[in-house]
Amino acid sequence: MGFGRLGQSLTAREILDLVRDDLERVEREIGLESVASVEAVTTINRYLQSGGGKRLRPILVLLSAGLLGERGEGPVRMAAVVEMIHAATLVHDDVIDTAQTRRGRPSSNTIWGNHTCVLAGDWLYMQAFQVALRERSFRVLDLLISLTQMMVEGELLQLERIGRIDISEADYMELVDRKTASLISACSRLGALVAGGDEKIEGRLGDYGWNLGIAFQLVDDVLDFTARENVLGKPVGSDLREGKVTLPLIYALQDGSPADREMVARVLSDGSYDRVPFRDILALIERHDGFTRARMRARTFTEKARVIMGGFPESAFQRALYGVTELITDRDH
Ligand code: IPE
Ligand code: IPE
Ligand code: MG
Ligand code: MG
Repeated sequence: MGFGRLGQSLTAREILDLVRDDLERVEREIGLESVASVEAVTTINRYLQSGGGKRLRPILVLLSAGLLGERGEGPVRMAAVVEMIHAATLVHDDVIDTAQTRRGRPSSNTIWGNHTCVLAGDWLYMQAFQVALRERSFRVLDLLISLTQMMVEGELLQLERIGRIDISEADYMELVDRKTASLISACSRLGALVAGGDEKIEGRLGDYGWNLGIAFQLVDDVLDFTARENVLGKPVGSDLREGKVTLPLIYALQDGSPADREMVARVLSDGSYDRVPFRDILALIERHDGFTRARMRARTFTEKARVIMGGFPESAFQRALYGVTELITDRDH
């Protein structure tokens, strides 16, 4: 894993040093909990786990619990739970988006097919809940159930809006909130919860994660256009090809000409860059500063996250949680 970018690597390494042992325990826990009595499910789970991924969500659980002085079994278990939920959403998401690639490899739907992947995703969701149940906490279950419903509703809303060019910034932000920020916010909140933090502290850490999560998706949507495919691990330009108009393009279209709109509408109706080359879309967004504006918007959220973090006492974990905000805006994949 790693977030790339030379200048940040030291900070990223320091963060990893802080959680490395716990993260290894998290991987062991996920491995142990991935075994089903039907082989296909176990195979898919193993494939997902070995595909890498940044492990941002479990890291956040561990850092948030660590911030409150808790480094025991609870945070490790909840870190495994959030990564399993994340993996389940990715399996389903790749079916929904008919994706070909995930984490630099063929996505599971292309290998095992949609039917098996839907069921494997269901199994993984339930297994995550099973593991969470060991915490014997209704608050944890309540949070995880609301969160999962929120994410599913987000995917449904996104489906309803697929292919539409007239997506407003507010529509877009609603999707980002549901499909990404909700889970990332739950991670820092769960860290606080298993550390025995009171409701106020839990709320503050939840807000930190929420701001981080919004910024994360905004940057993700910029990278979908600007990253290199071998670094990103999935094809660039996928969002627009899949019918999703995201923030850089929303900004560009706000000031765009009718000809600009026509170009975007054509890609949306074709579902490909056959008639309008991808580089023309990039040029359109550049012309209207769409990438810079979206990145600046992302920074306003990481700034808020930093302010919230500033309210906690100084510690290595606090500096790590500051560091995460920078890694998110400066990452290349
Ligand atoms: C992918 O999340 C889904 C989004 C919310 C954009 P990540 O970019 O964290 O995926 P992995 O776990 O590192 O592969
Ligand atoms: C990722 O959504 C899945 C969820 C957050 C539920 P996207 O479809 O936007 O992300 P990628 O591009 O497949 O990772
Ligand atoms: Mg997708
Ligand atoms: Mg999707």
